[in-house]
Amino acid sequence: MLILGGTAEARALAAELVAAGRVVVSSLAGRVRDPALPDGEVRIGGFSTAELNGVEGLAAYLSDRHIGAVVDATHPFAAHISANAAAAAARTGTPLLRLQRAGWRDHPDADRWTWVASVDEAVSASARSRRPFLTTGRQSLDRFLPWADRDVTVRVVDPPEFPLPERWRLIRSRGPYAYADELTLMREAGSDLLVTKDSGGTHTAAKLDAAGELGVPVVVIGRPASPPDVPQVATVDEALARLG
Ligand SMILES: NC(=O)c1ccc[n+]([C@@H]2O[C@H](COP(=O)([O-])OP(=O)(O)OC[C@H]3O[C@@H](n4cnc5c(N)ncnc54)[C@H](OP(=O)(O)O)[C@@H]3O)[C@@H](O)[C@H]2O)c1
Repeated sequence: MLILGGTAEARALAAELVAAGRVVVSSLAGRVRDPALPDGEVRIGGFSTAELNGVEGLAAYLSDRHIGAVVDATHPFAAHISANAAAAAARTGTPLLRLQRAGWRDHPDADRWTWVASVDEAVSASARSRRPFLTTGRQSLDRFLPWADRDVTVRVVDPPEFPLPERWRLIRSRGPYAYADELTLMREAGSDLLVTKDSGGTHTAAKLDAAGELGVPVVVIGRPASPPDVPQVATVDEALARLG
């Protein structure tokens, strides 16, 4: 079984399957410098090569390694690898299951947040904030650089690849985060806006509750669409039940 990973759910699924005696390979993109490694075999890096694009490379991997099933447990915003997984699975006739944690649309405060469809819309929707708390990840950070004149608090796992504006405060950490710590952080930073992706799950949800408690407005970037016709589950237990 191949697990496309890079999430806590992917690691939990790998641990359960390995404990049950299944042969599992977890695949990581290699974006994070010091990734938390799942149990079982691990491979790191994209599937594209000089000759093959990502779909072709993944399809070749599925055939060469005699993969019986793929679980796409990548992050909800990792849209390229999910699309590639759907195409490669269809091409090779390999069963594919999507494991994607539930989003935050059902959060009690969700109706009060500003939902946008992209990073650029998040930038536009945040025009009036002077002290935003930015938690949208390293990859799209450059799009917020026009905010050099704001007191931005930015939280990422790995350091950005470019210097940040002088007024910005960089916090490097990996969740999970506790509610009390998020309250303290946002109070001390004087945050007047929280900007986040709809990553979902519980690991990073405390910031939403802290924002609610402090009356801090929230801008949420909605998830990209999932590939159609791929069966989907939201929890590791559901995935295990499906995989039999
Ligand atoms: N995007 C986020 O906000 C976010 C947050 C937390 C964790 N992550 C994790 O970080 C990884 C990269 O995210 P991303 O947004 O850069 O993905 P992406 O845009 O969907 O993928 C870009 C390329 O990275 C390679 N790739 C991505 N995930 C891979 C995996 N699990 N195994 C092997 N190759 C992979 C693929 O390269 P080839 O085309 O060469 O195969 C893919 O085409 C994902 O595995 C995701 O679960 C992402």
